[in-house]
Amino acid sequence: MIIAIDGPSGAGKSTVSKAVARRLDFSCLDTGAMYRCVAWKALDEGVSLDDAEALARIAHDNDIAFTHEAGDPLPRRVSIAGADVTDAIRTAEIDRSVSPVAAVPAVRAALVAQQQRIGRAGNYVVEGRDIGTAVFPEAELKVFLTASAAERARRRVAQNERRGVGSTDYDVVLADIVRRDEIDSSRDASPLKPAADAVQMDSTGRTIDQVIDRICELAKEKGARA
Ligand code: DC
Repeated sequence: MIIAIDGPSGAGKSTVSKAVARRLDFSCLDTGAMYRCVAWKALDEGVSLDDAEALARIAHDNDIAFTHEAGDPLPRRVSIAGADVTDAIRTAEIDRSVSPVAAVPAVRAALVAQQQRIGRAGNYVVEGRDIGTAVFPEAELKVFLTASAAERARRRVAQNERRGVGSTDYDVVLADIVRRDEIDSSRDASPLKPAADAVQMDSTGRTIDQVIDRICELAKEKGARA
């Protein structure tokens, strides 16, 4: 069974996806991390973000792997071509670089193929932007999670403070979120938009636990056991 969780950055997808996966005993796949890995590798190799062909080659030729830590069923670490980039993909530089990478159709094709291979191996909560529309259009449950840009910026600042990476300046983070929303929803290749059969949830003014409870309820109605 696949639970697709799509929505703009900072809507709470990561927290919600992991919590839902834990409760339902599913695994989870963070597809945004994969686009970030490609952006990291491009910067590391000095590849221009305008060079679509070189970006596609990076996405195609380098294995991205998610690994577990002892005793934790959910993957915690991510690597590309053997380099652990778990923290390196969360910097402000990658935040800025990843949208043009994700807009390249051949990059998407390479990563979508990997995502489908991973997700088909079991019960997965898959989070991203195009999971319900392009990666798993047959997903049993599709959720489109949103929140106001201001709320998302507040959450992202708190998250960056906790992690000790990324900007903690509210105005910088808000401007970045607005800019990324614009690129992600106006690009030609799989723009961010809800699938016709997605359940839309606005998490502004709701607690994360309320969102998690609702998704688990819906998943159980679709046959998930927990
Ligand atoms: O969720 P995130 O902020 O880690 O995503 C990083 C970038 O990748 C963001 O610009 C949107 C893009 N992305 C995408 O285009 N498709 C996905 N399935 C996941 C992320």
